[in-house]
Amino acid sequence: MSQAPDRDTYPIKDLEELGRRARNVLAANDLGTMVTAAPNLYPHMWSWDAAFVAAGLSTVSVERALRELDYLLAAQWKSGMIPHIVFSDVPGYFPDIERWGTRGASPEGVQSSGICQPPVHATMLRRIVERATAAGGKDARLADEFTRRTLPGWIDWHAWLRRARGGDGSGLLTIYHGWESGMDNSPRFDGPYSRVNPGKMEPFVRTDTQKVKDHSQRPSDEEYSRYLWLVQQMADVRFDDERLPRVMAFQVKDVFMSAIYAAANEDLAVLAEQFGLPEEAPRLREWAREFRDGVDATVDGRTGLARDRDVLTGEWIGPPTMAGFAPLISTNDQALLDRQLEVFEGPDWTGDPRLAFPLPASTSTTYKGLKPRQYWRGPVWPVMNWYLAHCLRRRGDEKRYRRLREASLAQLMEGHFGEYYEPFTGEPLGSMDQSWTAAVALEWLADPENG
Ligand code: SER
Repeated sequence: MSQAPDRDTYPIKDLEELGRRARNVLAANDLGTMVTAAPNLYPHMWSWDAAFVAAGLSTVSVERALRELDYLLAAQWKSGMIPHIVFSDVPGYFPDIERWGTRGASPEGVQSSGICQPPVHATMLRRIVERATAAGGKDARLADEFTRRTLPGWIDWHAWLRRARGGDGSGLLTIYHGWESGMDNSPRFDGPYSRVNPGKMEPFVRTDTQKVKDHSQRPSDEEYSRYLWLVQQMADVRFDDERLPRVMAFQVKDVFMSAIYAAANEDLAVLAEQFGLPEEAPRLREWAREFRDGVDATVDGRTGLARDRDVLTGEWIGPPTMAGFAPLISTNDQALLDRQLEVFEGPDWTGDPRLAFPLPASTSTTYKGLKPRQYWRGPVWPVMNWYLAHCLRRRGDEKRYRRLREASLAQLMEGHFGEYYEPFTGEPLGSMDQSWTAAVALEWLADPENG
């Protein structure tokens, strides 16, 4: 196995150079109103990207970081949903606002998609608030004002998720599109997608494969026709939360999103207590408990991995993907945590000696369906490495945080801030200069003890 070097083996000037380049990427992708997810492939704001980007931005400017979250929250629908894309005026992305057909369903003046993404926002806001509070002065004041002002919006977002996607008592959130998971073409969704049969649709031309020249790094055309069919199904019912469960051909209990939600409810409860809405904390903690239990209950005793469930067939979803590590984010069960860490560090995951760096691939490296270059079917995603490390650190596991940090810095030293990386060669893939990759580089570089 190639060993990630110790922090001290990096000359300080290399770390400074990495930080300088990461800041340049975020500055170059900044339209003033939003930092686009990537310069060419993704010229808009994505919901969970924006949360991670805000955390990275806060290492440079707390004020700019909060503006990013503000811009996203301004696109919140009346229902409480935060849409997964807020469109800029930059052309060239498909599906565009016309194809989404959200006009009339979204709030006046908002140009957005009509689906959501994993709720990492409260967790990232808490991170920013802690950083700003430690800095004191103007940063602390801005974070205080911002959090007091926006807490009702974030709570509405969590209440919508509970009501529209998790009100059945399972402690798991339903998604109606793989895009809602953020892990679009993960093998997690192969079963559910195999039962989506596109009907009559407007023809379409993809733009992603014009931008990523090696098409094997992107989802297939067949997958895209299913993605677009689901968008049409939603648009046909005007994105009405009540009607979606009756019409959608794809309905999955997403275990990874549910764990993110459980953890984010804890973080939001802490913020509510600190910033003027302590009466909200009990119900947020209750949702945290409910979804923590829901996630724990999905674990397959044989593999030690958590599982999604196909709502329409009632079947558990088998492929070993990184979503199986959902309990690392949310569980309070020490035995389960120990088992998960054993699997995480074992030969099917970060302990595979063939890996370029000991980092989790999006699909187990020993899975027969592994596609090491294709999007969520195998590559390593820097943003996930940081998020999982952040969750471990929150538990007090500084040792594992540091280990993932060293490996991640070693990976990112190659210089492109790739969207994802080939697990065995370390080649950057997908979009280059991806904002959330640059953002987590800045997070890793922030003082590891106090950052
Ligand atoms: N990830 C999707 C894309 O590739 C959209 O959410 O465009």
